[in-house]
Formats: sequence, C-alpha cells, structure tokens
Amino acid sequence: MYNTKLLKSDDDGIKAAADLIKKGEVVGIPTETVYGLAADALNENAVAKIFSAKGRPADNPLIVHIAHYEDIYNYVTEVPDNAKRLAELFWPGPMTMVLPKKDIIPMITSGGLDTVGIRFPSDITARRIISASGCPIAAPSANISGSPSTTSAAHVMNDMSGKISAVVDGGASCVGVESTVISVSASGMITLLRPGFVTLEELRSAVGENNVILARGVKESMPENERAISPGMKYKHYSPKANVTIIKGNFESFVRYLGDHFTESSVAMVFNGEEKCCPYRCIAYGGSPEQQAQQLFSVLRSVDEMGIEQVFARCPEQNGVGLAVYNRLLRAAGFEVVET
Ligand code: TXA
Ligand code: MG
Repeated sequence: MYNTKLLKSDDDGIKAAADLIKKGEVVGIPTETVYGLAADALNENAVAKIFSAKGRPADNPLIVHIAHYEDIYNYVTEVPDNAKRLAELFWPGPMTMVLPKKDIIPMITSGGLDTVGIRFPSDITARRIISASGCPIAAPSANISGSPSTTSAAHVMNDMSGKISAVVDGGASCVGVESTVISVSASGMITLLRPGFVTLEELRSAVGENNVILARGVKESMPENERAISPGMKYKHYSPKANVTIIKGNFESFVRYLGDHFTESSVAMVFNGEEKCCPYRCIAYGGSPEQQAQQLFSVLRSVDEMGIEQVFARCPEQNGVGLAVYNRLLRAAGFEVVET
C-alpha cells in the first residue's frame, strides 16, 4: 500500500516524479490526451507494477513514450518513410505508431508482441518528466482496467490512491481521449487501430487515400473468434457501473425512445443545447466533436457519482474527431446500440 503523493507540475514536482520513476516506481502523469501511469519501459519490475495497479491483462501491450524524435531509433528496427512523414506532421502530439520492436523493449512491455507502440507527446510536463527520468516511459491510461480513462489528477487519485507512488497534477487533459494508434507496415501501409484527435481523414490526406485502412473493430465489435490486431480493442472498456445504451437517429426519435424506456434511475446523455428540449433528466456535454472528446470521460465518471443505473446516449458523429468519441462510447456501451 502506498501513501500516494500529489505533486505539482513545477520543477520540484517534476524532479520528484522522475526520481521515483528512476527507482522503478509508478507515477501518474498528465499528457495532452489522458493521464498515464508512467514507469521505466525497460525495467520489467517497474512495468509489472503498472499491470498490477491497473488490473490489466498481461497480453495488452503498453505504449512507450519518448521526449525526442530520434529516440525512436533505439526502440524499433525500422522507420518506414510514411511513418517519418506522419511523425513530421503529427509529432509531438496525440498519435502512437506501432512498429517492429528491438530486443531492448522487454516482452512484458509489449504484451508478448514483437511490435511496440511509440508516442512522442506534446504535453510539456510529460516531456519534462520523460527527459528527467532518462528512460523511455511505458504509460497506459491511468484508470482501473475497464473504467473510463482519467483526464484530471483527481480522477487518477480516485482510481489509483494507495496503488502507486505519486500523481503529478497538470490540470485537465486538453484532448480528453487517448492517442490515435496506427500500425505501419514495412511497405508503409497504415492501419488505424484506435481513432483519436489525429483523424482518419488527416492520415489519409497525409499519405494518400489508399494507404490508410480502418481496422475491424473500430466501429463494430470484434467477432468472438477473431484475433484483434490491437489487443485493447477486444475488451469492454471505458465503462461506468451504469449500463450505457447508444441511441442512433435524430433528436426527435431519441426523445420518443426515452418516452418508452426512461425510468427514475435513468439519465439522458445529450449534446450541449439539446438539454433545453429534453423533457427528461439530462447530462449535456460538448457542442463540437472536439469538446465531446474533451468531456466524455468526465461525464462517464460523473454518472456513477449520481447513482445512475441506465444511460441513454445520443450517438456521436462517425467522422473526424467524432469517430474517436463514437469508438469510446461504443465500448462503454458494450456495443449496445439501438436504431430509432
Ligand atoms: O493517449 C494515450 O495513448 C495514453 C497516454 C497515457 O499516452 N495511453 C494509452 O495507453 O491510452 P493504453 O494502454 O490505455 O492504450 C494503448 C492501446 C491499447 O488498446 C493497446 O492494445 C494498443 O494501444 N497497443 C499498444 N501497443 C500495441 C502494439 N504493439 N500493437 C497493437 N496495439 C498496441
Ligand atoms: Mg486505456
């Protein structure tokens, strides 16, 4: 049991966090996407502590974070031209590239795979912590496995207090959903494994329409017998304790559906502005897809504090950043979608 310290994102806090990481401990750190559970990616014991703090299945690989672009060459065997191009455009930033790993990355970090996801975050505090630690940083989202991700230090404390050494408070995460994860083949073909703030459309316009494909499982559930290319995609995820159902269709048919199904322990999850026209108890969030992304996990977490049993959620758009919101909400709903 740890007495989890809350550190500031000032010089002292960053030094304290880096010293803990150097000693093989786990620290909650801010990034521009969501908070991460950071440990030395090359230290097997430290990485094992991440898996146990989260309760994460051992076959789900961790992303390795770097603070200088050139460091990628220490951890992957090859960087295809398209990967270089995407790095130039979107790094530092909310994008992770999966490439064949070098032996220096322990199998525990890569979840037993021969590839590794590399991310160069833009968040200044994250980069300062990585640099001061002097090692690559393995960091999954800082939530209990299966729960909504964490976008504030308070969320991390809520899930991780007593389980890790410290949390660095860097304020609310500005993107709010996890990084876009892509795998890049030797020939430069890109597969989008997890949508994020760097969108499918942006990837396609960077490397060509025909060079980017969407992995199965991004917009639908994986068939039981199919192996996910990205192990994280097969799990129910991001879920509050309440049951979540996505209601497709326009606002009028959404309200009609509520008329037949809403109870005292339900809440309607609607987009900003719609609450004025919704005759039922509502939580409204984000007007634009970007704002929806920023607020999604906070909203899902607040549902449990309200003691809600059933969430009826409006369906996000399935393009641009909306695709990332849809992908997360779909998993929170355990793929329960109703067409109206
Ligand atoms: O924004 C983010 O990416 C955050 C912050 C902390 O950087 N991290 C994050 O990590 O979301 P995590 O572990 O919660 O999600 C990583 C996802 C998982 O779905 C995992 O299966 C996938 O990326 N992934 C990681 N390495 C992979 C690999 N080598 N091959 C395929 N998928 C991989
Ligand atoms: Mg996660």
